[in-house]
Amino acid sequence: MLREILVSLSKNSRLKNLVMHWKPARKASRRFIAGESLEQAVGVVKELNQKGINATLDQLGEYTIDPDGARQSTDDVIKIVDAITANALRANVSLKLSQIGLNLDEHLCAENLQRILTHASQVGVFIRIDMEGSDLTEKTFNLYRRMIENGFSMVGIVLQSYLYRTRKDVEELLHWGGRVRLCKGAYIEPVEIAFQKKTEVDANYDLVVGDLLAAASKPGAPRLSSDGRIPPIPALATHDNNRILNAKSLIEKMGLPKEAVEFQILHGIRRDLQAELAAEGYPVRVYVPFGTQWYPYFMRRLAERPANLWFFLSNFFRK
Ligand code: FDA
Repeated sequence: MLREILVSLSKNSRLKNLVMHWKPARKASRRFIAGESLEQAVGVVKELNQKGINATLDQLGEYTIDPDGARQSTDDVIKIVDAITANALRANVSLKLSQIGLNLDEHLCAENLQRILTHASQVGVFIRIDMEGSDLTEKTFNLYRRMIENGFSMVGIVLQSYLYRTRKDVEELLHWGGRVRLCKGAYIEPVEIAFQKKTEVDANYDLVVGDLLAAASKPGAPRLSSDGRIPPIPALATHDNNRILNAKSLIEKMGLPKEAVEFQILHGIRRDLQAELAAEGYPVRVYVPFGTQWYPYFMRRLAERPANLWFFLSNFFRK
């Protein structure tokens, strides 16, 4: 219930204005956000790289409200790509298609995405398309397929194990050489299209992991690139110990090398897990979000774990 309320408040523009100008909230958001500027985020990525951990940089922003804003966001993503090469970072980029105009005009979004992918491919940086709410799932999936058909290979997508359609999507996109970050899903979706119980979402996660690892075990399947920028087919994004244990046991059973898969973790969550997986020799990538548009991202992180909200509120009232 609290999760539903917080996710629905993440779209409330009045609350957004209040929260974003509220000092304690800005301070609390810093647990999950690397900073407001690209320079700060680059600093965080350098520290991760020194510990043998890769990163994916995300300039926060979603549901851009006009075409000029979408073009500006496209330029911003290109700046991140350039910062990765200029600083020799072991990193790639994550973006949301609604940030570059998917909610406004599909043609504009395709044009913007194509511009990003053209530049990123030239310099060898991989782009990951985050998955948003189900109003955009089909459009996101189709645009991803179009980009692969247009010859772009250094691009991947995110799929969510709470959606019934995900296993079928995985099967389809593995045929066209897609790469998948698998997460559980951070939005609220109705029973008509999504599992509602955690046990069902988890069970589907494990099934999809099996499908992705089977694809990664085929001869010639891509491995993590030596510069840490291009991921293998499966990127398993979860902080859930049981999901990770299941994946590790499958990897061992299948005799897969560790670079055939990467684990992904959000900045500010379970640092112990980052270190543990990296020490075991698994490729680890931390999702490093930054920027001024942190409100919806912050609210989704609060929603995932009610304890985050109580921690935030109790600190506020203690002042
Ligand atoms: P689960 O929610 O079961 O949590 C397992 C454990 O992780 C918890 O017990 C707790 O210890 C810890 N934990 C989880 N969330 C926490 C939080 N917010 N604060 C503190 N501890 C927390 N979603 C989406 O819809 N589209 C996307 O594109 C992405 N992209 C993405 C990238 C990466 C790298 C990650 C790790 C996650 C995403 N997500 C996402 C978010 C994802 O869908 C999901 O909401 C969260 O990862 C939480 O789910 P877990 O798999 O961690 O499991």
